[in-house]
Amino acid sequence: MHVSGTRLLSRLQELADIGPIPGGGSCRLALTDEDRLGRDLIVTWMKDLGLEISIDGIGNIVGTWNVGCGAPVMTGSHIDTVRTGGRYDGNLGVLAGLEVIETLMAAQLSPPRPLSVGVFTNEEGARFQPDMMGSLVFAGGMALEEALNTVSIDGALLADELNRIEYAGSSPSPGAVPHAFVELHIEQGPLLEAQGVRFGAVTGVQGISWQEVLIEGQSNHAGTTPMSLRHDPAFVAAKITVFLRELAERLGGHQVCTVGKIDIHPNLINVVPKSALLTLDIRNTDELILQQAESEVAEFMNALAHSEGVSITTRILARFEPVVFDPRVIDLIESLTESHGHSVMRMPSGAGHDAQMLARVCPSSMIFTPSVLGISHNPAEFTEPDDLIDGSNILLDTMWQLAHMNFDEKTGD
Ligand code: GLV
Ligand code: MN
Ligand code: MN
Repeated sequence: MHVSGTRLLSRLQELADIGPIPGGGSCRLALTDEDRLGRDLIVTWMKDLGLEISIDGIGNIVGTWNVGCGAPVMTGSHIDTVRTGGRYDGNLGVLAGLEVIETLMAAQLSPPRPLSVGVFTNEEGARFQPDMMGSLVFAGGMALEEALNTVSIDGALLADELNRIEYAGSSPSPGAVPHAFVELHIEQGPLLEAQGVRFGAVTGVQGISWQEVLIEGQSNHAGTTPMSLRHDPAFVAAKITVFLRELAERLGGHQVCTVGKIDIHPNLINVVPKSALLTLDIRNTDELILQQAESEVAEFMNALAHSEGVSITTRILARFEPVVFDPRVIDLIESLTESHGHSVMRMPSGAGHDAQMLARVCPSSMIFTPSVLGISHNPAEFTEPDDLIDGSNILLDTMWQLAHMNFDEKTGD
């Protein structure tokens, strides 16, 4: 039994065509008009399959087949993107989930449990923070009210945007606990390709620390202000950026640090800036080293504020500890992938994923497909069609087997 590769690829294309950007990617920032159109398309496909569709207060869409015979085996992902998104990040997990159900239906095979596909709101966290917000609310890790009160980078209130696109539903949060959760996703990194391995059985997700840093100094004339009298936020932002790079190199291992956004005000050639607003993305698989990195950055910024005569204030945008997936689900993915005749390796995820939130409430893991050149969050993101299709077939078998497994703990029954 195999999913329809043709249908999967054509649906990926149809979804990518919503919010198209040069280079073949998509821009569907969370809760924008493009996000709405993408959601409408998925809901149409869910309806065509006759799935029971529920939408909760944060806009998570869940399509379930065979409601009512126990807790479902759930899959899913997200269809929101970063501003420069590729065509596979998130989309693959949602569309492969629909493929699994459609394939089993066509084969007239009914698993002993419901199967469901989730489309989680605002996984990317590019417009509203924190990331993985929909799945976090679904898993009970964030109160719905708190999420609804989030303000976007463009100043919009999340609740208003959700109402505007008509995806504020009435299903309760947290959501009903699934029997198990498995997500198919592209790796978004270079490891599978570099090692010549076909698939990843994902062991967990590294810890994520996001903060916004506001530097306020003294705006002044670029020609007349002596260097010794400057309180320059652009210089301070640059120092912090360099410090992060050097910190990551010094700590080594899995430590990664990124300054992805810098807004300078007033951003003019002949004005020493008044302020700089930047974001820090610091991640590690080891919680203690992640904490060390955070405290070294804080110390550095304190000293810098003092020496440069600027004020530096910080705001936490997201903070999630590393997550370890359930060994039973990891083992299952590994053995099923081998039984399909493919090479597989265990690996942690560098990116954040909805599965890490579902792991709080039920046995969970993920299947990774390779990403060509390890490129993601970029329109050039690419995964070979055979990898997308074979990955979906592994997802199918994994969901089928999970539906037949009993877990004594951490289940919804
Ligand atoms: C989400 O995609 C993240 O890891 O930034
Ligand atoms: Mn993703
Ligand atoms: Mn992403």
